[in-house]
Amino acid sequence: MFSKIIATGSYLPENIVTNRDLEQQIDTTDEWIRSRTGIEQRRIASIDQNTSDLAYEAANRAIDKAEIAAESIDLIIVGTCTPDVVTPNVGTIIQERLGIKNSAAFSVEAACSGFIYAMNIADKFIRSRDASCALVVGADTLSRITDWTDRNTCVLFADGAGAAILQPSDTPGILSSELGADGAYGDLLYVPYGTSRKPEQPKPDDYCLHMKGNEVFKVAVKTLESITLEALAKQNMNINDIDWLIPHQANTRIIHSVAKRLGIPIEKVIITLSHHGNTSAASIPLALDEGIDSGKIESGDTILMLGFGAGFTWGTMIIKL
Ligand code: UT7
Repeated sequence: MFSKIIATGSYLPENIVTNRDLEQQIDTTDEWIRSRTGIEQRRIASIDQNTSDLAYEAANRAIDKAEIAAESIDLIIVGTCTPDVVTPNVGTIIQERLGIKNSAAFSVEAACSGFIYAMNIADKFIRSRDASCALVVGADTLSRITDWTDRNTCVLFADGAGAAILQPSDTPGILSSELGADGAYGDLLYVPYGTSRKPEQPKPDDYCLHMKGNEVFKVAVKTLESITLEALAKQNMNINDIDWLIPHQANTRIIHSVAKRLGIPIEKVIITLSHHGNTSAASIPLALDEGIDSGKIESGDTILMLGFGAGFTWGTMIIKL
């Protein structure tokens, strides 16, 4: 038995911040941001929108497309590193808003790999028959943990949500999924303080993302290449068996570099970050949903999703849609 994605949904906040807008606030240029990152604009949540609001919208759209009753969902997992509050978790907040009563609901904190981690767990619940209909969401409001005076990070990070509904199926579905992490890289992309660790002498950027971009870039390219080769080898597949590659949307230069190393034509890679920036756990499901809605990705296609994020954490998932 397989788990199969029966529908996807996504949501981006209405507020658009262009590179030109950022030129007015920090020492940067539209040209630099486009050429170094591929990002043209990003979406930023309004002050009254929390991560759960974005997650709820994406989930609702997926539920509508799946044509299921929300009450049939018996598992909710949200990948996020920017929960509204420590507790209740984002899963339970959207559970209540969706009117779901009989489900487990929790969130998974694996930064930009959060969606792949959440999907991996949901797949295990479905295949062990502990769940019969799972709602998996990747949602983040990175704008809330971004230092808007730091040009190294604020041009990259943004807000969004994407969701998938999984059900059991006799026909393939999720073919494989591998997760990994290496905490030794923790200091390349991190938030210095948080819930239990408090600064002795608080500074304005204590609760914001700090990144050694260049080093993250290099590890990201190497890791994404090696985990792809491992995932394909385990399935006795090669890159030509993949119809669509959906990597985490952090930087088009990372994506092009990985595609080149793998020998997959760039036309087979879904790239959406130009219009929404790096949305962390939302980036892969946003790209998946956009790929399907645009008609590029079709039923029966084989898709390889690649997550990579702070921690470092990473994950692969090969699916037949
Ligand atoms: O989602 C989790 C994973 N995250 C990532 O994968 C992000 C990975 N890293 C990156 O995408 C890239 O490293 C960045 C886009 C963050 C930076 O690009 P880069 O080509 O690695 O630039 P750099 O950090 O080596 O900086 C090159 C120059 C520096 O100036 P100097 O020292 O050469 O004079 C920076 O100060 O570019 C400067 N710079 C900027 N200039 C204009 C850095 N940010 C900006 C900016 N506008 N926004």
